[in-house]
Amino acid sequence: MTDPTHALSFGAAAAEYDRFRPRYPQEALRWALDGVPAPARVVDLGAGTGILTRGVLGLGYEVVPVEPDPGMRAQLAVATPGTAALDGSAESVALPDGSADAVLVGQAYHWFDRERAHAEIARVLRPGGTFAPIWNTRDERVAWVAELSRVAHLGDNAGNVIDRYADFGPAFEPVAAGEFRHTTTLTPDEVVGMLHTRSYWLTASPEEQEKIDRELADLFATHPDLAGRGTIEMPYRTVVLRSRRR
Ligand SMILES: C[S@@+](CC[C@H](N)C(=O)[O-])C[C@H]1O[C@@H](n2cnc3c(N)ncnc32)[C@H](O)[C@@H]1O
Repeated sequence: MTDPTHALSFGAAAAEYDRFRPRYPQEALRWALDGVPAPARVVDLGAGTGILTRGVLGLGYEVVPVEPDPGMRAQLAVATPGTAALDGSAESVALPDGSADAVLVGQAYHWFDRERAHAEIARVLRPGGTFAPIWNTRDERVAWVAELSRVAHLGDNAGNVIDRYADFGPAFEPVAAGEFRHTTTLTPDEVVGMLHTRSYWLTASPEEQEKIDRELADLFATHPDLAGRGTIEMPYRTVVLRSRRR
């Protein structure tokens, strides 16, 4: 599932990405960091524009973001005054052994070369430290959300992450899973703006992009739960997987 073309396609649209993507609910972050009292050192792997970094900073932790894409790192620096991301990846983190109390990952674990990443995360964590990847997934049990995902080819909703990813290898204890619900309020134009930050749209041909935009406009104009609405409550499920380093 690691695809560098798609991973790096985010960089050019970093500012839009930061504007539209959902934030992580505080209760999910507190659950991820249960047993890791602030101020502890938390590494945010695949930090992107810093959405998760800022959530964790807000809880009083020291955060070290790590991000391979220069466009994302530049946007993170602008949006997160006083914090600069390290150039690096989940497979190669420029931090000493045992130097982190926790490693979090927002919406990026599925891009990693997991076997190499598990070894590198275990190296960077102190014994007993926490590793927790987190996903904000659209709640596709809501009919219009499922339709939106189909139209915009949002095939990467990591809805079944618990089954797919709940094993971090021999250096980690068994994985616990937590799930949290929340919504974000967006105008229809902002939903379209957000969909334009998705890797499928960014890498689609101009014809395909036009087709998607036409079908989206149709959905907003005709779906009974959406037609005539100035704003839309987009429902999300936040899923956290959490384990401790042995
Ligand atoms: C969907 S974005 C998530 C960004 C941020 N964590 C958030 O929650 O908004 C995925 C990020 O993972 C980064 N990424 C892709 N492959 C990676 C890897 N192997 N190691 C670390 N980061 C990676 C991408 O550059 C991108 O910034």
